Amino acid sequence: MIRVLGIETSCDETAASVVSLDGGAAPEILSPKILSNVVLSQIEEHAAFGGVVPEIAARAHVEALDGIVEAALADSSVSLDEVDAIAATAGPGLVGGLIVGLMTAKAIAAAANKPLIAINHLEGHALTARLTDGLDFPYLLLLVSGGHTQIVAVRGVGDYQRWATTVDDALGEAFDKTAKMLGLPYPGGPNAEKAAATGDAGRFAFPRPMKGSAQPDFSFSGLKTAVRQAATAIAPLSDQDVADICASFQAAVADALGDRVGRALARFRQEFPDQAKPALVVAGGVAANRTIKATLEALCAQAGFAFVAPPQKLCTDNAAMIAWAGIERLRAGIAGENSADFVPRSRWPLDSVSAPMVGSGRRGAKA
Ligand code: KG4
Ligand code: ZN
Repeated sequence: MIRVLGIETSCDETAASVVSLDGGAAPEILSPKILSNVVLSQIEEHAAFGGVVPEIAARAHVEALDGIVEAALADSSVSLDEVDAIAATAGPGLVGGLIVGLMTAKAIAAAANKPLIAINHLEGHALTARLTDGLDFPYLLLLVSGGHTQIVAVRGVGDYQRWATTVDDALGEAFDKTAKMLGLPYPGGPNAEKAAATGDAGRFAFPRPMKGSAQPDFSFSGLKTAVRQAATAIAPLSDQDVADICASFQAAVADALGDRVGRALARFRQEFPDQAKPALVVAGGVAANRTIKATLEALCAQAGFAFVAPPQKLCTDNAAMIAWAGIERLRAGIAGENSADFVPRSRWPLDSVSAPMVGSGRRGAKA
């Protein structure tokens, strides 16, 4: 039995969780349990500013984290003495929040005489499908959040290869900026989806960025500009105009995303020909979007891939994924010898081989 306390503070969620893994008689069969999963969202603190304000985020983490850790331990009925390690997000993210989380984790680890495991937030997202669905390696991950838009081949614990990323905005960022432009409240993504539900997706022929391009990457800033031009041309906007723009934008995004992901599925087939039923896993807040989900589901069905979408609560930022990444690292024997000296990294690519992209689709450092 392994039990890890996870801590997540890289953006605007203060989170702590205890996850256990009971090896039992067949340690190769994963049987993890989320014993607690406490997430405090700061959305209200940032809403007035239309986006995450790093200083406000850091202060809110300082104020909340102790209580959130206590609540996670209490909910799990596991004492600090009984955990095997403390895992904390050490990057990428907003550096103020990372410092709060990592320093708190170091203090707890030192006081309780437990090892500290510094976790890459993206690795947390990448390994979640093994916690929720017991997925085997390798699989393909599409991470679409406010800070990242990436396709990653997940080959093993600590073995990731980024196949595509955005050359400008992250997809969630494109949703948020588009929504803001149209006067919809923060956070923009869910509100744009809601508006789109009553709109005509055929009214505006927005571009499908990168569609058909041999280059694997994403781009969304041109689409955002096209939306701005269309909105300016017909201003002032009625509610129906806003709905039509949102529906047309969402259709363009789903179409472009489908094209990019389709390419990656084909590449995965080529690189891993032995997999009878390979899997595409989605993670990140944008994965909640039903139009996008339906597009990806259809694509997977057509390509013979399993479509794995972990519960939304575990797709967005949380600490269960960080605790789980800690357990995976402990099991793989790569938990890190010197984590107590680990310094937070606001930038920390999951895949050290891939060159960073210009802009790299990061808003602040949200993942
Ligand atoms: O993963 P997440 O909760 O936080 C991080 O970015 O780390 O993702 C938040 C992003 C925001 O940009 C939000 O607007 C977007 O996900 N989002 C959506 C939807 N729900 C959340 N975008 C489109 N459609 C949605 N239903
Ligand atoms: Zn994230």
